[in-house]
Amino acid sequence: MAINWKAALHGSAKDRVALAIIRAAESQGRLVPGHNDVIFEGTSGSTGISFAVLCNALGYVAHICLPDDTSPEKLGLLRALGAELEPVKPASIVDPNQYTNAARRGAEKINGDEGDSRRAIFADQFENDFNWRIHYETTGVEILDQMGGDKVDVFINGSGTGGTIAGVGKRLKERDASTKIILADPQGSGLANRVNFGVMYDSVEKEGTRRRHQVDTLVEGIGLNRLTWNFKQAEPYIDEAIRVTDEQALKMAKFICVNDGLFWGSSAAINCVAAVKTAFKYGPGQKIVIIACDSGARHLSKFWKEATALPNDLTLDDVLK
Ligand SMILES: Cc1ncc(COP(=O)(O)O)c(C=O)c1O
Repeated sequence: MAINWKAALHGSAKDRVALAIIRAAESQGRLVPGHNDVIFEGTSGSTGISFAVLCNALGYVAHICLPDDTSPEKLGLLRALGAELEPVKPASIVDPNQYTNAARRGAEKINGDEGDSRRAIFADQFENDFNWRIHYETTGVEILDQMGGDKVDVFINGSGTGGTIAGVGKRLKERDASTKIILADPQGSGLANRVNFGVMYDSVEKEGTRRRHQVDTLVEGIGLNRLTWNFKQAEPYIDEAIRVTDEQALKMAKFICVNDGLFWGSSAAINCVAAVKTAFKYGPGQKIVIIACDSGARHLSKFWKEATALPNDLTLDDVLK
């Protein structure tokens, strides 16, 4: 079946990444469509959903390893799409049961089993070079096209794998070196300190203060406490990072829902907080681009459960303080 990334859109910037990884593995002979070969991925949900859709269309099996506190909406979507699910406890990357390590092990097991005729790949979105490249080839170009020749003054995005901010950042800086690339980073992530101070550390790392093993935030899909290949590709292009608290993100999600009719997911809300701070900092007339990574519908019973409870009459001052 002929699929391109435009046809594969399911409301997430991850569709194009998943398709690029599959096409690369096919061209290397590591996957053959229509043979129930298995694609293993460790993901906080979005990339898994993209793989699940594409696997159905192309005759593969999606095996998704993910934190067991992933939002029920994403788990439900993955089940509905027929993906094999392996929920694991949120854990640091050094833990062999962390979701990325579980996915790698699953693929190795199938490939090492002589009695199993299927092929398997570990998609490895964090370290896979095709991730940032597809954003360089497509997302960055689309942003420039949509700006109709106008300069992008600032591009703001969070980093999960780092693929989007790397690919788009490189494309935009190549077009105009004065475009600012800003990382929007949730609480609990070490990436902002890495960008602003060269040190990967967040205060929740202090003994006894960590509530959750992974990045300590309600926000899904962004924030990390390790350096990945894709984030390293982004680092030369990132000018600064803005930290956003869960409270600010929740209030912003509610604010733009009530005032602008935008029902956005948690990482999109983080981007929006950073965009408003940037707009105040640089003043009127700036063209600031952000990505609305996904919809609030994927976050209804976690992030949006808390956002729903907030009052409708929040002001922008309330959001930013
Ligand atoms: C909802 C959401 N937003 C943002 C991102 C970050 O994108 P990237 O992995 O390209 O940094 C992700 C990544 O999983 C995501 O799921």
